[in-house]
Amino acid sequence: MDVEEALKFTDNLALTTTGKHLDSLQKAILRGAWNNQKYKEIAQEHHRSEKYVKEVGFKLWKLLSVALGDQQLCKANFRAKLENLQASNIVSLVGNGCIHIGNISAETLHSPEVSQFEPQDKNKFNQKTSNSEPKVYLDLGDAPEPNLFYNRTSELTTLKQWILENRTRLITIYGLSGIGKTALTLQLIPQIQHEFDYIIYRSLCNSPPLQTLQTNLIQFVSQQQEIELPSLIEHLRSSRCLLILDDVQTIFTSGQLAGHYQPGYENYGTFFKQLAESSHNSCLILLSWEKPREIAALEGENRPCKSLQLNGLGAEAGEIFREKRLAEEEKWSQLIDLYRGNPLWLNIVATMIQDLFGGSVSEFLSYDTLFLGDLECLLHQKCDRLTELEKQVICWLASEAAPVEISKISANLELSPSTLLQAVQSLGRRLLIEKVKQGEKTLFTLQPVLMEYVKNQFLKFG
Ligand SMILES: Nc1ncnc2c1ncn2[C@@H]1O[C@H](COP(=O)(O)OP(=O)(O)O)[C@@H](O)[C@H]1O
Ligand SMILES: [Mg+2]
Repeated sequence: MDVEEALKFTDNLALTTTGKHLDSLQKAILRGAWNNQKYKEIAQEHHRSEKYVKEVGFKLWKLLSVALGDQQLCKANFRAKLENLQASNIVSLVGNGCIHIGNISAETLHSPEVSQFEPQDKNKFNQKTSNSEPKVYLDLGDAPEPNLFYNRTSELTTLKQWILENRTRLITIYGLSGIGKTALTLQLIPQIQHEFDYIIYRSLCNSPPLQTLQTNLIQFVSQQQEIELPSLIEHLRSSRCLLILDDVQTIFTSGQLAGHYQPGYENYGTFFKQLAESSHNSCLILLSWEKPREIAALEGENRPCKSLQLNGLGAEAGEIFREKRLAEEEKWSQLIDLYRGNPLWLNIVATMIQDLFGGSVSEFLSYDTLFLGDLECLLHQKCDRLTELEKQVICWLASEAAPVEISKISANLELSPSTLLQAVQSLGRRLLIEKVKQGEKTLFTLQPVLMEYVKNQFLKFG
């Protein structure tokens, strides 16, 4: 038996006893014990206090003693005990990492018939009964109720891979309002919750200062734990938490380029950066209209920081029209394309078509101006945040019928290329402009709804 096999064995044992896998610190302690390391050294390597590591270690030995029915087990004899168990053929590891002790497999280890292995005090360990799921503490706070939900399989697959396989620590899902960021994330939770100790959802829509948010989160996590840890990051290290912060755009300021924090909220940037860069087992998901600026510098293929641009739904958005009983199914794809598959917009438009045209899509499409109706107010909230320069750029793009090159924009607006590029990049981070590839060239344009909105604003304000 080598150290990896010993870890696998112990991890399975912990899973069967408590319903939870070992966390990274517990594994480090087992490795350390195997290699005769002192607590002090383990603590140094893992940037923890020696006292804390000892506490975790103490609980771990207690847990394993109970699980193995051997009250003498401790750090000093852990290796010897396991090697003895194996030598006496009591423990064997089978291919998939399952353990067998004698004829008893891990599954039956704690069933009532095998009384000698029964844990002495079940309640000490937040454990599962043999068939139930591992325990996860869930606090979805003010999250909306999940609603009808279509597709998004590829996005869900990507997110699961990032979180479960790549152990990504910071994920930003950004997209226009109504595109489905919140709905997607709520859909994701039940698919990954077994991997976490805590799952917490909070919206930043009331702009809580970072300190307030952190205190609230610590309160929730430490209610369920025996040890009180000083900071949120310590909690994120000692347990595997999934933390979801929604409406992150609220803490960004208007009238500046995308992703600038409001005064007093800059520490959120430092917090996000810390979670992306420091070592821990947890995952933070940010949902936002705009990509925070520091994320752009941190993310990458092999980095623990990633972002997902959420685009609209495809043909499956037709289900929204079916639900609203629209007629002329053959015209639905045209509508979906015009409104870029944004489920909120499509819901609003479907209601409008039902109210005004008795469900006739062709009648609605026969007008040559695109109807915005209630969308206008949503777009207003979004465009109100732009800098003067960004407004200039989108106004100019709205006046061009076809997609254009950057050089043409800069010549027309008499701006230096660098100023213009900054504005274009910021509009991209807000997902307000569309890029179109034409051969080698990248051209820019506005999507139809925005084009219409900007034109209306032009007319209104000259
Ligand atoms: N995949 C989907 N299928 C059906 N409806 C959806 C889907 N995604 C979102 N919606 C609906 O669209 C609306 C906006 O979604 P939401 O998640 O609130 O958007 P966001 O958080 O990006 O602003 C909600 O009513 C939601 O139920
Ligand atoms: Mg939302």
